[in-house]
Amino acid sequence: MSGLPRFYADPALYDALHADGTADEVWLLDLLARRHAPNAPKTALEPACGTGRYLAGLLRRGWTAHGYDLSAAMVDFARRRLARFGARVRVERGAMETFRPRERFGLIFNLLSTFRHLTSDRAALAHLRLMRRALAPGGVFILGLDLALYGADEPDEETWTARRGGRTLTHVMMTLPPDARRRRERVINFVHERGRRVLESAYDLRAYDAAQISALTRRAGLRLEACYGYDGRPARLGGPERALWLVLAEATGGPRRRGA
Ligand SMILES: C[S@@+](CC[C@H](N)C(=O)[O-])C[C@H]1O[C@@H](n2cnc3c(N)ncnc32)[C@H](O)[C@@H]1O
Repeated sequence: MSGLPRFYADPALYDALHADGTADEVWLLDLLARRHAPNAPKTALEPACGTGRYLAGLLRRGWTAHGYDLSAAMVDFARRRLARFGARVRVERGAMETFRPRERFGLIFNLLSTFRHLTSDRAALAHLRLMRRALAPGGVFILGLDLALYGADEPDEETWTARRGGRTLTHVMMTLPPDARRRRERVINFVHERGRRVLESAYDLRAYDAAQISALTRRAGLRLEACYGYDGRPARLGGPERALWLVLAEATGGPRRRGA
């Protein structure tokens, strides 16, 4: 990708806009790790960890947590936020497509369609393979993303208000649906504070339908262990729910032997 979206240039603003619901998602991550990786170590890795909001929640639940992000501003913010957890946490600068973790982890997670910032199959596959290799035995990789239904998706607009430290921020997010050929979803964000626009940002995400994400994860040597909606209810890849958390585990045999 050429440069990061402006939406990620102000970590404090990003964090305020996304705080709501974070505690519930951390609770769900912890629950799914216990359910699907009961014998794996309580160590977590978050690629593209942003402000470290999920890592903070996991650390409070007794996890050891590592994260990395391409944005120096995000890494700085997360380091400052998490400093009090000492040696149980590490945050580094790194790109999803190339960062090779030194350790192995019981839980790896990449939520909120962040993986879809990788706009080619080559980059996406590289990331999935790196994450598969970073799984401890019995560990799981939770990939959270919205899937496309080409030809049926409509333009969408969501508005929400966030309040933090005396600030009131209104966030409007518009998405323009992808087509099956280009596989790009356009995301446009506007943030207003006291009637003044404080941020405008637009970027593309790579689109996947159920068959495409299923084929790519298989090529990366991962198998689908379970699937949930964002609310934690069991779901089916290819079913009506398209905002999903895929619980992936290392597939035995296959791609790894062919040098993946
Ligand atoms: C939607 S935010 C998610 C942040 C965090 N995971 C969360 O859910 O709050 C996307 C993050 O991905 C980072 N990012 C975008 N492209 C990246 C890449 N190629 N490698 C690493 N980080 C990337 C951005 O800097 C940003 O912090």
